[in-house]
Amino acid sequence: MSRHEKRKDRMWAGRLQQETDELVQEFNASIEFDRTLAGEDIRGSIAHATMLGEAGILSSAETEALIEGLRDINREVEAGGFEWRTALEDVHMNIERTLSERLGPLGGKLHTARSRNDQVATDFRLWLRSRTHETISLLRHFRTTLVDLAQTHLDVIMPGYTHLQVAQPVRFSHHLLAYYEMLTRDQARFRDSLYRLDVSPLGAGALAGTGFPIDRQRTAELLGFAEVAANSLDAVSDRDFALEFLAAASITMMHLSRLCEELILWSSAEFHFVTLPDSHATGSSIMPQKKNPDVPELIRGKTGRVFGALMGLLTVMKGLPLAYNKDMQEDKEGVIDAAKTLQTCLQLLSDLLPKLELHKTQMRRAAGAGYSNATDLADYLVRQGLPFREAHEVVGRLVVLALGQGKDLEGLTLEEMRSVSRAIDATVFDTLKLENVVDARQSYGGTARGQVEAQIARAKQILSQETES
Ligand code: ARG
Repeated sequence: MSRHEKRKDRMWAGRLQQETDELVQEFNASIEFDRTLAGEDIRGSIAHATMLGEAGILSSAETEALIEGLRDINREVEAGGFEWRTALEDVHMNIERTLSERLGPLGGKLHTARSRNDQVATDFRLWLRSRTHETISLLRHFRTTLVDLAQTHLDVIMPGYTHLQVAQPVRFSHHLLAYYEMLTRDQARFRDSLYRLDVSPLGAGALAGTGFPIDRQRTAELLGFAEVAANSLDAVSDRDFALEFLAAASITMMHLSRLCEELILWSSAEFHFVTLPDSHATGSSIMPQKKNPDVPELIRGKTGRVFGALMGLLTVMKGLPLAYNKDMQEDKEGVIDAAKTLQTCLQLLSDLLPKLELHKTQMRRAAGAGYSNATDLADYLVRQGLPFREAHEVVGRLVVLALGQGKDLEGLTLEEMRSVSRAIDATVFDTLKLENVVDARQSYGGTARGQVEAQIARAKQILSQETES
């Protein structure tokens, strides 16, 4: 390439006298990742050209030719035939330069009343709006999967834990529905973020607006934005929308990671509550007996990169003076990666969960172990007239007695129990039965069958009311 040609590649070269250092050129370029925004960039340019034509800033013949040229480029990008050049730095200049090479000086008119600063903010918002809608759909699908499973396994009893010590028995459905609640909040966070994301920065220019008689309402309308950004400085400086996406993605990943942690524990030989489907597990290259929970482990691990993207962008933004700063080019890679990671993880878990094999007998056995009915015995004593604190003390002594004999509470004889408290009679044994323990918890949101059925019905109703996004 001649010196002259090299200079031509830099669309801002008018001001600079000498060539750009090669390492600098590479360092400055974002084309490797921002070409992901090519479709949005072209849509934005078509809207901008349309508006310039309508406002009389360009003639209708010029507008038509520009739009035609942009559509051709779009087809090439979609077919994978477009030639991306690092020397042209980013997606915006690659497309504009190719347009100019094909249309001659007319191509240079597209950038009238526009800057890459409002252009990139527009592209990124359009791109993230699509990813947000997709994420909402994936979340809804996952929630539906959880509710369906809760329905199928309504009578599977498992231990509920606090401090990872057996606490009280719960329905497996109840446990699944806890995740339904978390993911419902996650979905609401993404939905809510759209109010601030769906705003058009286009027409803010470099930072201060433009002297041309543009119509920002019109470009917003053409791009389907709900609103127009009210302050041009804010419009080009703001990356809150990307941070909000990352924050919502981080919280969702944290939830997925907790579920994965449970799947990993449950599939261990020590718990043996579930077996993962072969389709979502792997073997060991040295230990022939092993089946490893790689998919849940990797989802748990990938949570780190999504949190990292959030911390990274918060740190990029924290010291920036208004308005655009080149630092902000660092906004894209983390968000693109986080969106893909989150979507893949949601899909994987939605596929995996229905294929889990449950070891119901073992889950039930574990639910009955560890004196998980001790609270019920205390509640029983309260109903017999003891203050709760006294009942608590009595049951503590009964647990010590049973432990000493290597028995469950229900393994003690009535005489043994009465030796600790005269308030106990033969009806105690009913209270101690696992099913009764579970079904005693009839408070709203509790684990009794009727309550879990009500949760399922409520979830189904909410899901059916949500409109497709
Ligand atoms: N590639 C740049 C970015 O991603 C586009 C905006 C560049 N604007 C500028 N004035 N250098 O942020």
